Amino acid sequence: MSDELQIIVDNILAARKTGSKAKAQGQGLAPSNIALCKYWGKRNTRINLPLTSSLSISLASLGSKTLVEQATGPEDEIYLGGEKLKGDASFVKRMKSFLDLFRPSKEFYFKVQTVNDLPTGAGLASSASGFASLVLALDDFFQYGLDRSKLSILARLGSGSACRSLWHGFVEWEAGVDPMGMDSYAHPLSAVWENLCVGLVIVESLPKAISSREAMERTVQTSALYRGWEECVKHDLALIKAAIETKDFSLLGRVAEGNAMMMHATMQNAVPPIQYSTDQTFAVRRKVVRCREDGVPVYFTQDAGANLKLLFQAKDKSAILEKFGNIPIVSPFKDL
Ligand code: PMV
Repeated sequence: MSDELQIIVDNILAARKTGSKAKAQGQGLAPSNIALCKYWGKRNTRINLPLTSSLSISLASLGSKTLVEQATGPEDEIYLGGEKLKGDASFVKRMKSFLDLFRPSKEFYFKVQTVNDLPTGAGLASSASGFASLVLALDDFFQYGLDRSKLSILARLGSGSACRSLWHGFVEWEAGVDPMGMDSYAHPLSAVWENLCVGLVIVESLPKAISSREAMERTVQTSALYRGWEECVKHDLALIKAAIETKDFSLLGRVAEGNAMMMHATMQNAVPPIQYSTDQTFAVRRKVVRCREDGVPVYFTQDAGANLKLLFQAKDKSAILEKFGNIPIVSPFKDL
């Protein structure tokens, strides 16, 4: 990990409670979040600083739970879903270098146990809730007592979108302008939208072929559409906030779906092109459009993976179940 990262973490930890001491075990719980206006592209790849702001909805009780304690042996022990991961796995390497930032001494090793409710690495925001829950567990374990905006910065260093997983409901991540990213963190919106529902159409549970980190970098460097994407985000963000304010569901759905399509179009224009969608993704997208033509207001959004998330209102839940089968459905403001 670069010195830049350690400087940022030390700077943040300077605000911890004085005399804070580690407890036997720390615990963190964080929801997954699905961006309605996406984050795609970094202005600093080492510290995950975005080129544009973004806005998400959290998935209530679906997310990650992480436990942190001191390992008894001479190395970090990382468990995912109850299974101990091998030290050379790329996820473990990423996790260990993140943990390096928090070791009280070089000889201190962590035991980290994470359980994700959703498949890992399949574009279902498990890294977001994973890093957010890890940061919460570290804060609990070391009794730092940091405020949420500082924890949001720490989570961002692990995975950009993780900075939005510290809250329920609608959450906005402002890109910020500070080169060290001290103003690049998320905050919750106060709006409550009781009858809003999110459905998960899982067509692929295997990890994606190309990481969002690599895909974003390639898109920024090579896609001729990237400039247009930056402009699109500005409009979409304003429209989504207006839709939330006025509870205009069709505006929210239309803009969120268009934003996801624009993100995928931008990455398809990269060299070589990036394509997360499979035949099944396209089939589900077509089904969503047909549903609307049949009078059921439903929209989709899609992240860095083949899976789709549906946006609809509670009154249409039975129509959605009938058309899409027995898919998992979350009410972000009710299933808390
Ligand atoms: O935070 P990352 O590196 O997993 O990237 C997330 C990217 C998207 O999910 C596609 C968009 C977003 O804003 O969550």
